Amino acid sequence: MTENYSEKFESDSPERTESIAGNFAMTLKPPAFVALNGPLGAGKTKFSSGIIRFFCGNLNPTSPTFSIMNRYSCMEVAINHFDFYRLKTVLDLENCGFFDSLSGENITIAEWTDIIGIDYKKFAEKGYYTVNIDIKTGGKEGNEKRFIKIEKIL
Ligand SMILES: Nc1ncnc2c1ncn2[C@@H]1O[C@H](COP(=O)(O)OP(=O)(O)OP(=O)(O)O)[C@@H](O)[C@H]1O
Ligand SMILES: [Mg+2]
Repeated sequence: MTENYSEKFESDSPERTESIAGNFAMTLKPPAFVALNGPLGAGKTKFSSGIIRFFCGNLNPTSPTFSIMNRYSCMEVAINHFDFYRLKTVLDLENCGFFDSLSGENITIAEWTDIIGIDYKKFAEKGYYTVNIDIKTGGKEGNEKRFIKIEKIL
């Protein structure tokens, strides 16, 4: 992946969203941090699942909305999958182990990072990527198109 990376995709199915995420995952090397944002039900967990399955094989990652963090230790890499939806403060981030997860040789994925307004780039210097997913309304219900924008933040 080049240094100045920004790419846009359209996805018309959950499977396509997962495969876009899988292709992106191919370029990730630990340590890396992927921040996912977009409205409720946009596909943040689906996208995360595509990354996790690329590294960990055919498992079915669940949403960490209630566990706050799920950790997957795979052959070559450890993946921490966070969901900040129920968190409010920087102290909450500290307490759930988020900052510690960035310092190791991990890949960290977090949904709803915009909820807590800090400069994530300061904490994830090496590989910081943002993924924004929007729902294009007006399509067939439950299967509306998604616009996915992936950026590497320098
Ligand atoms: N193109 C698409 N890409 C991803 N998901 C899609 C798409 N079309 C329909 N869906 C459906 O939208 C839902 C996305 O759910 P998912 O849990 O991934 O969203 P989320 O953004 O993580 O939600 P939350 O805000 O609750 O964390 C799934 O039910 C999925 O089947
Ligand atoms: Mg989710």
